Amino acid sequence: MPQASLTINPAFAIGAVDRRLFGSFVEHLGRSVYDGIYEPGHAASDDEGFRGDVLELVRELGVSTIRYPGGNFVSGFKWEDSVGPASDRPTRLDLAWHSKETNEVGLHEFSSWLRKAGSELMLAVNLGTRGVEEALDLLEYANVPSGSTLSDLRRSNGLEEPLAVKTWCLGNEMDGPWQLGHRNADDYGKLASMTAKAMRQLDSSLELVVCGSSNRTMPTFGAWEHTVLQHTYDDIDLISCHAYWAESQSDLGSFLAAGHDMSLMIEEVVATADSVKAALKKTKQINISFDEWNVWDIERFAEEDQITGIDNWPVAPRLLEDSYTVVDAVVVGSLLISLLNHADRVSSASLAQLVNVIAPIMTEPGGIAWKQTTFFPFAVTSRLAGATALTPRIVSDTYESSVHGTVKVVDAAVTSDAQGTSVFLVNRAVDSATTVTIDIAALGAVSVVEAVALYDDDIHAANTLESPERVALRPISASTTDGTLTIELPPVSWVALRLSAG
Ligand code: AHR
Repeated sequence: MPQASLTINPAFAIGAVDRRLFGSFVEHLGRSVYDGIYEPGHAASDDEGFRGDVLELVRELGVSTIRYPGGNFVSGFKWEDSVGPASDRPTRLDLAWHSKETNEVGLHEFSSWLRKAGSELMLAVNLGTRGVEEALDLLEYANVPSGSTLSDLRRSNGLEEPLAVKTWCLGNEMDGPWQLGHRNADDYGKLASMTAKAMRQLDSSLELVVCGSSNRTMPTFGAWEHTVLQHTYDDIDLISCHAYWAESQSDLGSFLAAGHDMSLMIEEVVATADSVKAALKKTKQINISFDEWNVWDIERFAEEDQITGIDNWPVAPRLLEDSYTVVDAVVVGSLLISLLNHADRVSSASLAQLVNVIAPIMTEPGGIAWKQTTFFPFAVTSRLAGATALTPRIVSDTYESSVHGTVKVVDAAVTSDAQGTSVFLVNRAVDSATTVTIDIAALGAVSVVEAVALYDDDIHAANTLESPERVALRPISASTTDGTLTIELPPVSWVALRLSAG
């Protein structure tokens, strides 16, 4: 049986955990908005057409910020289409997803939904087909209290108070050849720098996110960040990382090592940002916004979901509706472990996405809303993560993965706050349980107040419309004696422990 040990000491702090690590993402894509968060006429919908059952699940998920409205969608989006009387709004072709966008839900409706969800807006501007002027217009419309044409237009459209959006993404995945308006790092870096400077001329307190790479395997990964940051270092605060993993893209052992891969991506982007900092002789530090991450079977989308032709683009088609398994949820839990272990350099992150589209929450039109397997590790981590991330000091057996080389069987993250300590664990062993001993002597006399696990004899079990509660969290036992906590992690499992304050 594989073994691992962990030492927890409140003195070994990594850094403060920004609540924005528990963000998500809503794109105008597929049934994310229409038939997802919004379905007028559904029995659970409120007077604005928002599904109350979905809102309840979003609140339970514990989502801090929501990136909006894309994604690839934003690179062809005209924000003006989405405000004003709904009946006057145009229907547009969405070139990213070959769908039609009716603009029935726009900026005002979405911000009203966000208030109900208790989440904060993170807005992306279109730097694909548009530029500085349109970004400034949107900023004026959203954030200026009153007294200018666009701020007064917002007021006459029914929103007296400004949206006060703090964090803005300067485009989306501009390194990707699939992106509308894709350009090289030099051209994008110059455009992002101009846009950021102009936006700061209006409001110097904004937090701006420049596009990093769409994934770690992009041929330009590393060089892209280096060039873009050379152009924008003084102008921006965060650089984005995006990454998706899927079991179908590798073997099980490599898929289970996704958190290891995410950690490498974070560390490589941090190293690149710090090398630009040194070369430019700056004191300011650039941190990461990991604003798209999840399990996503991209190849299935390429093969099955894509809409072809030019006169048959549907409104809100079923796109990217991946069904998540137990092993997918274990990987999502391990990705959250990686984010917590880099809390000193990752300021913000967004699980991509939220409802129906590669999502922890699914809905059926006129029917139920349910939790996918991935809902559980996210909701528990968001609820239990404390204010400070601690270094977990892990000694673990390892295994060889074909894609990522030598990987630890057990990974862990630890957080603390005045009320206690939380420990998150993943067991990547496929065939056997792993015993983990945790040295908690430095915490004093503590007890285990919560211990939950996600695992199943069938690692490919999933929650579906027909069987929405097939997979759920299970209690797990953990014993403490003489400053040591011992727990046996089932094969392919994710576990969360909450310890009382000492
Ligand atoms: O989240 C789905 C898509 O993945 C987003 O639109 C895009 O930014 C990324 O490639």
